[in-house]
Amino acid sequence: MSRTPIIAANWKMNMGPKEAREFLASLKSELCGDCKAVDKVVVPPFITIPTVMEVLDGCDCLGVGAQDVSDRDSGAFTGEISTTMLNEIGCKYVVLGHSERRQYHGETSAYVNKKVKKALAAGIIPIYCIGETLEQRESGQLETILKAQIVEGLADLTPAQAATVVVAYEPVWAIGTGVTASSADAQSAHAFIRSVLAEGFGQEAADAIRIQYGGSVNPGNAVELMGQADIDGALVGGAALVAASFAAIIKASI
Ligand code: PGA
Repeated sequence: MSRTPIIAANWKMNMGPKEAREFLASLKSELCGDCKAVDKVVVPPFITIPTVMEVLDGCDCLGVGAQDVSDRDSGAFTGEISTTMLNEIGCKYVVLGHSERRQYHGETSAYVNKKVKKALAAGIIPIYCIGETLEQRESGQLETILKAQIVEGLADLTPAQAATVVVAYEPVWAIGTGVTASSADAQSAHAFIRSVLAEGFGQEAADAIRIQYGGSVNPGNAVELMGQADIDGALVGGAALVAASFAAIIKASI
């Protein structure tokens, strides 16, 4: 099964509009024609999205995602952004259930499931994040945790809907720490995730779902990680704040 790799830059709470303009100018000079074989996405803070759209000026060479979305339609929900708004501005992706949202905002898989369904109903591709803490891994709960996050977070989806979702496996202990999972450990977690997806949605859908690895991905470790059979791209934080290193990770996935 050939899946188009997807490399996404999760800028988190970095990159205001001015910095984003500079980043995109450098990225343009770094990227080449052969990068077409990879889906490339930037995920800026909400306030930066209009600037990114303006710079891209309709070019579909780079997809744009949001870092979160509301599970509600509209109305009195201070601070929230709706799927309608993301559609209006042209966001094709939304990162959901990132471990930082789970940790600092108390988001559970069941709650994130509402957002996943909202995004899909609006035609926006969810990048659904899962991953275990070090304590959970060391106490032998890796598979239980990943399975629960998949079953709860992707509940009620049809196989056709599930096939469009991107799953990001991000071990919490690897995020922003400089410690990456070994390529063998990452591959075995990805293979397990795909088997759980197959149980829930059938083999065909599971084979179509792209599973990104995330957690301290950098130009130095990307080639080996991306070479694994079940790793279909990366969700990149720190190393995606510099255009040259984001471009190098994209090239590593070809
Ligand atoms: P990192 O972040 O690449 O800085 O570890 C990844 C993420 O949180 O998506």
